[in-house]
Amino acid sequence: MNENIVTALDIGTSKIFGISALIKNTGIEIIGTDIQNLPEDVIKKGRVVDIEETTNTIFFVLKNLQTKIGENIDWVTIGIGGGHLKGENYTKSISIEPSGREINENDIQTLRREINNTLIAEKGLGKKILYTVSRQYKVDNLNITKKEPIGMHGNALEISVHSITVDTNPLQDIKNCIKNAGAQIESIYPHSWAAAEAVITEEEKKIGCLLLDIGKGTTDICFFTDGIIAATQSIKIGGGLIDSDISRLLHTPLTYAEEIKKTYGYACYPSLLREDKNNILSQQVEILNTSGKLSKNVTVGQISNIVYERLNELFSIYIKPIIMQTGEASIAGANIVITGGSAKIKDITTLSEEIFGLPSRIGAPKNLPGLETTYHQPEFSTGIGLVMLASQQVRKDKKKSSFQKVKKIFEKFF
Ligand SMILES: Nc1ncnc2c1ncn2[C@@H]1O[C@H](COP(=O)(O)OP(=O)(O)OP(=O)(O)O)[C@@H](O)[C@H]1O
Ligand SMILES: [Mg+2]
Repeated sequence: MNENIVTALDIGTSKIFGISALIKNTGIEIIGTDIQNLPEDVIKKGRVVDIEETTNTIFFVLKNLQTKIGENIDWVTIGIGGGHLKGENYTKSISIEPSGREINENDIQTLRREINNTLIAEKGLGKKILYTVSRQYKVDNLNITKKEPIGMHGNALEISVHSITVDTNPLQDIKNCIKNAGAQIESIYPHSWAAAEAVITEEEKKIGCLLLDIGKGTTDICFFTDGIIAATQSIKIGGGLIDSDISRLLHTPLTYAEEIKKTYGYACYPSLLREDKNNILSQQVEILNTSGKLSKNVTVGQISNIVYERLNELFSIYIKPIIMQTGEASIAGANIVITGGSAKIKDITTLSEEIFGLPSRIGAPKNLPGLETTYHQPEFSTGIGLVMLASQQVRKDKKKSSFQKVKKIFEKFF
C-alpha cells in the first residue's frame, strides 16, 4: 500500500462516491473515482438500513478504485451526518496557581482534560465525542487568543471549544460495513466540514459563512466565523422529501417525481408568481400516472409550489433557528453557500436570500489536478472535501513524525 495515497468514501442516501488522491509536495492529485447509485431503502436519512447491500456496494466501489489506482485500499476516510451528529460550544476555566505565573503546556493539557471529562460525563451512553476543536483562549477574562497562550502571565485561563458528538449505533453499523468490505476507517469527519473544505474559501470563513449541504435524505450544516468553526448540525431532511410529495400529490411514480422536480421545479415559487413575465408557471407538463401512462397534465406552477413548500419548511423551520442560536451579530455579514445535489434546484439561492436575508451562492468543488469536469458539481463536494481533509491529516502526521525524529536526534546529542 502506497502511504501517499488516501481514499475517501461519501456514503450518501442516493449514492456511494469513492475517491482516491495522491499526495504530492505541491498538493494532491485525484487518481481514481467511482460512483455507485443506491436504490431506495439502503441508506435512509443518512443511516445504513440495509447492511448487506451497503457492504456490497462499498466493496464494489473499493474494488473499482483499486483497479483504477493499481494499489490495495486498506484504509478509508468517511463522513458522518444526517441527524446522528451534533455540534455544541462549551467554555471551561481554571485558575493559575500561584496566580500570576507563566502559563505552560501543562495548564493547557489540564484544561483540555477537564473539558473532555465534563463532555464525557454529560453525553452518557450511546454517544461518542468525535472532535473537540479549540475556538479561543481567554487569559484573565480579557486577552483573547486563538493560539495556546503559553508564556503569558495570568491568574485564570479559559478555553472555548466546539465539540462534535455522534450517535454510536449508526457509526458502528458503517464501521462494520466497511470492515466487511475489506477496509478500515482511518478518520471520520462531519459531512458539512468536508463539503466546506471543498467549496468555501478561507476569506469566506473569516467574514462568516453558513454552509448548507442539501442531499437526498439529509441536510448538513456548518457555520464559520472569524476563520473558526462556530456551529455544526445535521437534519434528517433532504431533497428526497420533495420527490415523495410530488409523487403523492400529483399521483406519479417516485422515480418519475424526481425527474419532474429536476426539470420543472423552481424553488422561488412566490417571487416567480409575482412577476412570471414569461408565463413559466402556467406551462403545461404531461406526466406519468401511477399505472405508467403519460396522460395527466399539471403546470410548472403546481410542481414549483410543492418544491417551494418543502424548501420553505427546511429553511424557515429547521435552519433559521440554528442561525439564531449562533448569534445574529456573527451572522450579520455572512454568506450562505448551498451545496449537495439539491443545490441544483432551480433558483434555490433566490429563496435562500429571501428567507435568510443573506447573499447566497451555489458551492461546487474547487478545481483539483486530475479531477474530471463531470465532478465539478455540488453532489460531489462532500466526497472531494473528505479526500482533501484526509490528505491534510497525512501531511500533519508526517510533519509530526519527522519533528519527533528530529527531536530524538537532538535529544541524543544534548
Ligand atoms: N438538477 C437537479 N435539480 C434538483 N435536484 C437535484 C438535481 N440533481 C440532483 N438533485 C437531487 O439531489 C439529491 C442527491 O444529492 P446528493 O448526491 O448530494 O445526496 P446524497 O449525498 O446521496 O444524500 P445525503 O447526503 O442526503 O445522504 C437527490 O434528491 C436529487 O434528486
Ligand atoms: Mg451527501
